Amino acid sequence: IKTAVFISGTGSNLKNLIKFSKIKNSPISIDLIVSNTSKAKGLKFSNQFNIKKYVSSFKNYKIAETKILNLLKKENIKFICLAGFMKILSKSFIKKFSGKIVNIHPSLLPKYKGLDTHFKAIQNKDKVAGCTVHFVTAKLDSGKIILQKKVKISKKDTSISLAKKVLKQEHKLYPAAIKKLFN
Ligand code: GRF
Repeated sequence: IKTAVFISGTGSNLKNLIKFSKIKNSPISIDLIVSNTSKAKGLKFSNQFNIKKYVSSFKNYKIAETKILNLLKKENIKFICLAGFMKILSKSFIKKFSGKIVNIHPSLLPKYKGLDTHFKAIQNKDKVAGCTVHFVTAKLDSGKIILQKKVKISKKDTSISLAKKVLKQEHKLYPAAIKKLFN
């Protein structure tokens, strides 16, 4: 299924999804990279892997979303993976792609929706953290959960060390969640 990945930053999840798309019988091909900033380091993977990219500042949300929807249609994209994408898509955009947008979030949802998930987990002296792949709905980080992975928090963990541990698990979780979705 032709897939677009939306990013705002490093793109380590994007890179991992590109690798996953190249495995024999992978359910996805990545045909478009979308970002809300030209500063996203992950855009380098567009050149590296010869994948079309589209950058929009989202200054004007309506125009940005309309252009992206037109491009998705033109490229016949049927599935969207958000990976560190820092803009909240509108209800109408999500509706047009009903049920075919997924996101990876660095916490065990429904705990810690939004930002600073690792800091909150440590502050609350949680024993376990993790990451979640879920469907995107109009309500932030609240869509149906597809798959989760737990990560033990050790006493000496900081939010930085925990973020590294969770990110490693994210790279395993995203492909596993997509496999579960399509197989
Ligand atoms: C990851 O921690 C992901 O959980 C969150 O944003 C970060 C993206 O990292 N959504 P990267 O850009 O994929 O490296």
